[in-house]
Amino acid sequence: MSETTTALVTGANKGIGYEIAAGLGALGWTVGVGARDDARREAAVQKLRAAGVDAFGVPLDVTDDASAAAAARLVEERAGGLDVLVNNAGVTGGVPQEPTTVDLAAVRAAVETNVIGVIRVINAMLPLLRRSASPRIVNMSSGVGSLTRQAASTDPFVTGPLSVAYAPSKTFLNAVTLQYAKELRDTNILINAACPGFVATDLNGFRGVRTPEQGAAIAIRLATLPDDGPTGGFFEDAGVVPW
Ligand SMILES: NC(=O)c1ccc[n+]([C@@H]2O[C@H](COP(=O)([O-])OP(=O)(O)OC[C@H]3O[C@@H](n4cnc5c(N)ncnc54)[C@H](OP(=O)(O)O)[C@@H]3O)[C@@H](O)[C@H]2O)c1
Repeated sequence: MSETTTALVTGANKGIGYEIAAGLGALGWTVGVGARDDARREAAVQKLRAAGVDAFGVPLDVTDDASAAAAARLVEERAGGLDVLVNNAGVTGGVPQEPTTVDLAAVRAAVETNVIGVIRVINAMLPLLRRSASPRIVNMSSGVGSLTRQAASTDPFVTGPLSVAYAPSKTFLNAVTLQYAKELRDTNILINAACPGFVATDLNGFRGVRTPEQGAAIAIRLATLPDDGPTGGFFEDAGVVPW
């Protein structure tokens, strides 16, 4: 691998993902901008480059096996390996999501992108990550995926709106993160889940109270963990999020 640290951020064309790419780029890292739409990806790459980031576009639809495989080939050609993977791409699945009336398509969509998409992309990128001296994987989860918080509160600010698709998909993602950490325990790969807080983005109609830059901070922190940093954890700015 080259001397440069290389990261890939999925869903990096807007919102929190864009700011994660910008923040990692500001460290002098090379950043792959994973995005499924050609025009939105190119616009993000150009904006990052204008800000001085060594950004390159990576066509990537996390719900598509062939797309993930092609993305891994592209990253290998461009960088020779991968140091950090940030699985940021996510969808709500569509609303409403009240359990008793939900359209099952919403549940499937949330799980397909937020859970299976993450597994797909990790496994496609793992051969490249294994070449790094300090590989890190960050899975962008959400505090609404915390069963402890869901059980303890009815405050929508804590739990999010009633959701039988989105919130459980993040609980599922947390569980998946832990399983990876266990399998990878004897490697140098650190994998953690992050909660960005309630951030104003397209995902919630810009109702969030934090900026995308603030939301990106925890992912950047977990992407830059020292070698003796935690693995198999769930973190927000204030510290550990309860499962
Ligand atoms: N905003 C919040 O308050 C909040 C809170 C907790 C967790 N999160 C999590 O933070 C992450 C980023 O969300 P955000 O708020 O920044 O939302 P956003 O602005 O809607 O961005 C979501 C990103 O994911 C991409 N994406 C969706 N499906 C994809 C697919 N199949 N393949 C590739 N990319 C895909 C979108 O691409 P397109 O532009 O092509 O749709 C977009 O780039 C998500 O995982 C979300 O669940 C957000």
